[in-house]
Amino acid sequence: MPQPNAVKCLVVDDEPRLRRVLVRLLEGEGFICSEAGSGTEALEVLQHDPVPLVISDLRMPQMDGVTLLREIIARWPTTAVIVVTAVAEVESAVACLQLGALDYVAKPFHLDEVRARVMQALDKRSLKMEVEDYRRTLEQRVQEQARRIEELSLERLQALVHFLEEKDPYTSGHSVRVADYSARIGRQMGLSQAVMDTIALGAELHDIGKIGVSEAVLHKAGKLTEAEYRHIMEHPVIGARILAPLMRDVPPALAIVRSHHERLDGKGFPDGLKGDQISLEVRIVGVADSFDAMTSVRPYRPALSVQKALQELEEGKGTQFHPPAVEAFLAAFPDRSGLPVTTPEVRPLHLPPPLDAHGRSTPPD
Ligand SMILES: [Fe+2]
Repeated sequence: MPQPNAVKCLVVDDEPRLRRVLVRLLEGEGFICSEAGSGTEALEVLQHDPVPLVISDLRMPQMDGVTLLREIIARWPTTAVIVVTAVAEVESAVACLQLGALDYVAKPFHLDEVRARVMQALDKRSLKMEVEDYRRTLEQRVQEQARRIEELSLERLQALVHFLEEKDPYTSGHSVRVADYSARIGRQMGLSQAVMDTIALGAELHDIGKIGVSEAVLHKAGKLTEAEYRHIMEHPVIGARILAPLMRDVPPALAIVRSHHERLDGKGFPDGLKGDQISLEVRIVGVADSFDAMTSVRPYRPALSVQKALQELEEGKGTQFHPPAVEAFLAAFPDRSGLPVTTPEVRPLHLPPPLDAHGRSTPPD
């Protein structure tokens, strides 16, 4: 009488008499056995009911034991296979072990030997599964740790951006406001959460490259010379260089940092990208960044009124700005009294989940 948690086993042999001997032996040990007279039949049985243990003869018509073994290993890698060979076939048995069979028994076999081999094979199988399980857990933990380290670096960079901005009353709160405006535009445009996360990341770090710009130039009260303007406009490239190692898995966020001063008409910085060469995420942040810059006081000019800044956005549609992003911005603030927004609180940034092999974002577990 098999136990409720008895192990299932499939015996494959074209000789019914030998099959019966093995089945009787294994049932005596508490296994639940099914039988197959050929490799093909064995695959059909496994298809409907995979088992942890298969004992298979090597020489069989239709499909021999080696072919069956290859199929089982490919399709049911956790199934333990023991091959039954004639004494003269030891070489084949060794080849089977190399292919992944867990053991072999030579005919004529002693029942005690079969019993011992079966138990050993099941032990090996459990061990293999434990190792595989451990490897998978370990891999996952390494990935989690790597991500945590990346997020810690991200926190430091985010703190650095805010520190830089707070040092300068003219730029204080700029990046969080740009992220806020961008999020409102994105929401209005019905973008997916993955794209919104990317925008949040890129928008808040977009000006990090200003760390590489001379403070004297950055805070100059008067009009910039051509050389000084060019120097300031290096910040998108510097920023992208700083963030590249951290954002290698989020190229769209990195593009925001590098390209937020590009214009649709190709007259922007640093690459003179035009039209479709500028991603939607970049176009959205471009509108948000410009609006916040216009409505903030600068050392060389007072803040523009909201009305004037909105007019600039309208007039720049199609040349500097992406028209749907401008429309979405306006729609997000039907009551203009909400403009400019008050600087929101800084929240920790997160890296969007990595993309799968098809370039889709994978939701976290
Ligand atoms: Fe910038």
